[in-house]
Amino acid sequence: MNQPVMGGVPTVNAPSYVKHQKLINWVAEVAALTKPERIHWCDGSQEEYDKLCALMVAAGTMKKLNPAKRPNSYLACSDPSDVARVEDRTFICSEKQEDAGPTNNWMAPAQMRATLHDLFDGCMRGRTLYVMPFSMGPLGSPIAHIGVELSDSPYVAVNMRIMTRMGKAVYEVLGSDGEFVPCVHSVGAPLAAGQQDVAWPCNATKYIVHYPETREIWSFGSGYGGNALLGKKCFALRIASTMGRAQGWLAEHMLILGVESPQGEKHYVAAAFPSACGKTNFAMLIPPKAFEGWKITTIGDDIAWIKPGADGRLYAINPEAGYFGVAPGTNQKTNFNCMATLADNTIFTNVAMTDDGDVWWEGLSKEAPAHLIDWQGKDWTPEIARETGRKAAHPNARFTVSATQNPVADAAWNDPAGVPISAFIFGGRRSTTIPLVTEARDWVEGVYMAATMGSETTAAAVGQMGVVRRDPFAMLPFVGYNMSDYFQHWLDMGEKIRAAGAKLPHIFCVNWFRTGADGKFVWPGFGDNMRVLKWMLDRIAGKAGGVEHVFGTSPRYGDLSWDGLEFSQQQFEDITSVDKSAWQAEFGLHRELFDKLAYHLPQALAETKQRLEGRLNA
Ligand code: OXD
Ligand code: MN
Repeated sequence: MNQPVMGGVPTVNAPSYVKHQKLINWVAEVAALTKPERIHWCDGSQEEYDKLCALMVAAGTMKKLNPAKRPNSYLACSDPSDVARVEDRTFICSEKQEDAGPTNNWMAPAQMRATLHDLFDGCMRGRTLYVMPFSMGPLGSPIAHIGVELSDSPYVAVNMRIMTRMGKAVYEVLGSDGEFVPCVHSVGAPLAAGQQDVAWPCNATKYIVHYPETREIWSFGSGYGGNALLGKKCFALRIASTMGRAQGWLAEHMLILGVESPQGEKHYVAAAFPSACGKTNFAMLIPPKAFEGWKITTIGDDIAWIKPGADGRLYAINPEAGYFGVAPGTNQKTNFNCMATLADNTIFTNVAMTDDGDVWWEGLSKEAPAHLIDWQGKDWTPEIARETGRKAAHPNARFTVSATQNPVADAAWNDPAGVPISAFIFGGRRSTTIPLVTEARDWVEGVYMAATMGSETTAAAVGQMGVVRRDPFAMLPFVGYNMSDYFQHWLDMGEKIRAAGAKLPHIFCVNWFRTGADGKFVWPGFGDNMRVLKWMLDRIAGKAGGVEHVFGTSPRYGDLSWDGLEFSQQQFEDITSVDKSAWQAEFGLHRELFDKLAYHLPQALAETKQRLEGRLNA
């Protein structure tokens, strides 16, 4: 619905099915500030999606892929400067700086509002403002929440339709006075009259801003996924974490999977890994042949919202409706189900294009095609790559695809009630020190494990790659409040579950990434992670053995099933050994973290550290 321009600002002309006056007034206010040429109220229909894609193909933002190879699919290539989340430009603007805490960038809300007011003034000139109502979680679920994103990017509109339940039906849930999180996004590239647009408009100045007290999100200057699809990291993690703290629930950077034994016993587990550490692969795992009859099904691959149910147990939903996953490294072997998911109806961003109009990325096939157009639109050949090291796809290239396309989507993935969680798994990317798998002795030690987690950085965020940083709960870039208060919230949740007489989920720490003397990963990973998952389920059932060490309990060689895999006791030692000096250094890093987080650091965690260190040195 394109609205006429009157006096430089389009009239709002909300469709008659929008009954929420506060929302209409807010759209009018934002339009008066940003001055778009027209306003489009998204209905979320397929027809609308197709039209927006066609518009972007005409504008050069996207290319339609060969329908015989990749039906209804597109490739978008971003500006080379706009390829990942910008953590140093991401702000938590709480009234008090200590409420944002030392792990977040902070600016006083009044100062930030003034800065943003100047940037947003007229920033949508010449563009269309899209109004996108969306539900994070199944429409009407007691665990779900609603947001409305206003954006001048059609790329955002089509991605939001895949990643959230976006469209007209949301207004029915919202009614005339329902609550929603207002999210404003602009690529920050106004067009003067007659000015030719570029394929990927963006701005060198970027701000990704959250006001936790008023639950608002403002994002400027980037068109890239995590900076621009505001339902995802901004709402479902940063703002939702603050809502969860206030309301007694959890918003986590976790996949959720179902695991069913051949006897039909089923559990759901939620697992937190930092960005680009294999959450999507784990969520769609195919068990090895020797595990005939075992089934893994996906609820979600990135975010979990977890609330206590009437029985006191924790129930989780995936607030998203699609997957925005890392393409490089994905192939038939590493993630067969994901490749099937991507067969059609997919938007690819920053991958390479083959001469016959399909996509390619590093790791998709052993042999690279003889010629490609790389993600920056340049000719690419294996020879050029050898000479220059230039990648065909950006290492953080992504796919956006609906969860409904996943052949192993769990029957309950869309269930408004959520699924009960039996275990939490935390894992970083560590080439040394951390064993393959460790079970925490109790909830507090589990929270300690998660709080002190370290991981080597990846391409998912701008910055140096491969350096170990502490990434508590894999939430370092995503907690919308003080990290120490977040630890306390986890401790409090454990207390509440215990007080309700419900069984606490078990907590495990995993590390798939230990390397051998040759620098290569020792653990085969992928489908073989099923062996570790089975040990966890057996621990929950009280059936599996293990050996206790400083950090918790790990399996002995004989406690894992090795059917169908040649993996020697020595290799097992290489990835499970607990080296005293490495752990002394590790505790030094925990101390640095705790020094940084001293304000409000829960006493229970400081005591746990002392106890574990005492054990190591005994
Ligand atoms: C993501 C991320 O996009 O964590 O999921 O960066
Ligand atoms: Mn993520």
